[in-house]
Amino acid sequence: AITRITGREIIDSRGNPTVEVDIALEDGSFGRAAVPSGASTGEREAVELRDGDPARFHGKGVRRAVDAVNGEIAAAVRGREAEDQGGLDTALIGLDGTADKARLGANALLGVSLAVAKAAAAAHRLPLYRYVGSVDAALLPVPMMNIINGGAHADNPLDFQEFMIAPVGAASFAEAVRMGSEVFHTLRRDLRAAGHHTGVGDEGGFAPELRTADEALEFVVAAIERTGYRPGSDFTLVMDPASSEFYRDGEYDYTGEGVRRTPEQHVDHLAGLVARYPVASIEDPMAEDDLDGWRLLMARLGDRCQLTGDDVFCTNEALLRDGIRDGIANSVLVKVNQIGTLTETLATVATAHRAGYTVVMSHRSGETEDTTIADLAVATGCGQIKTGSLSRSDRTAKYNQLIRIEEELGDRARYAGRRALGLRTD
Ligand code: PGA
Ligand code: ZN
Repeated sequence: AITRITGREIIDSRGNPTVEVDIALEDGSFGRAAVPSGASTGEREAVELRDGDPARFHGKGVRRAVDAVNGEIAAAVRGREAEDQGGLDTALIGLDGTADKARLGANALLGVSLAVAKAAAAAHRLPLYRYVGSVDAALLPVPMMNIINGGAHADNPLDFQEFMIAPVGAASFAEAVRMGSEVFHTLRRDLRAAGHHTGVGDEGGFAPELRTADEALEFVVAAIERTGYRPGSDFTLVMDPASSEFYRDGEYDYTGEGVRRTPEQHVDHLAGLVARYPVASIEDPMAEDDLDGWRLLMARLGDRCQLTGDDVFCTNEALLRDGIRDGIANSVLVKVNQIGTLTETLATVATAHRAGYTVVMSHRSGETEDTTIADLAVATGCGQIKTGSLSRSDRTAKYNQLIRIEEELGDRARYAGRRALGLRTD
């Protein structure tokens, strides 16, 4: 049974406050979880409760969420069995009482939900991926490594937020990390040689003064080739334009590039990029409020490209069901703090898998040293993880955890490879 719940205010990778929760059980088992935070958030995400007190952390303090953990939530969950994740999460949702977790805060609820799972895993002396998954959880995800940052994650003029490389041709997860690291360092050299600075953005990728997706993708493809790998087979490319961020008045306003595109022109532009470069996956290709645009793009690229909904689904099972019904995407991004409990997160993954949607486990642009999502990627067998670049410990901590999991699984470990993205394997 849960005996002690402690919430505290810590800081995340951007230096902003976030919630951390410790849970102790009667038998001495312990679980700790820290909550991530987004910058380009979806409109229908569960509410991240911030104090709004300008005297502290520029209004971003999370003392109210921490007080909720140490007060109301602690009183409600103390004495409950940590193994009863479903019952506990249902109790948390009921205690909050709002549809969007605005009263106690999704940051308060998620910290407790994940810390309980970790404490329960410890009580069973099981690694988290096996406790949440099963003895069969042995599929290591393809990492989508975000090596060029733009949009809301960097101060450069790049309109698109993320340019990623996915080492689908690796034989193992550890090899995927090595391959990604090698390309990352080649890219650094290439950028420097071209006169660009090599400072990194929020997710650890470079943030050069580039304006167009073509320029960014040229650099990425060249770095892959110059490292000795084949673009398209060893690596596929992945983009997250985060299109909701520059959708205004029914059009896509590329301020860096200095052009406005109608949804049809935006679709044409994306299709052109897919034709010119080995891009196998695009996340939030269309804005969360442009469902007609999503349908247009699905008709155009749905058979050859993974089209992943982030803002449009917000890891929310009900929103995902609507999207599946309307055929707007073929893949879903999963971020635990968009919905606020582990149980709801797993329900969204299960619904996606039943519908034939692929699933990408994901970090937020604001992260901590917490590595829970690495375990959840293996637990759910989703086959893909997006957790930043090959720099910044808030990102590499997840990769390092997956390296440890792969080692622990030994002969049983399998690397998801091309199949995970729905790509042909021949
Ligand atoms: P966020 O960005 O965490 O700032 O929302 C990540 C993403 O858009 O996928
Ligand atoms: Zn996104």
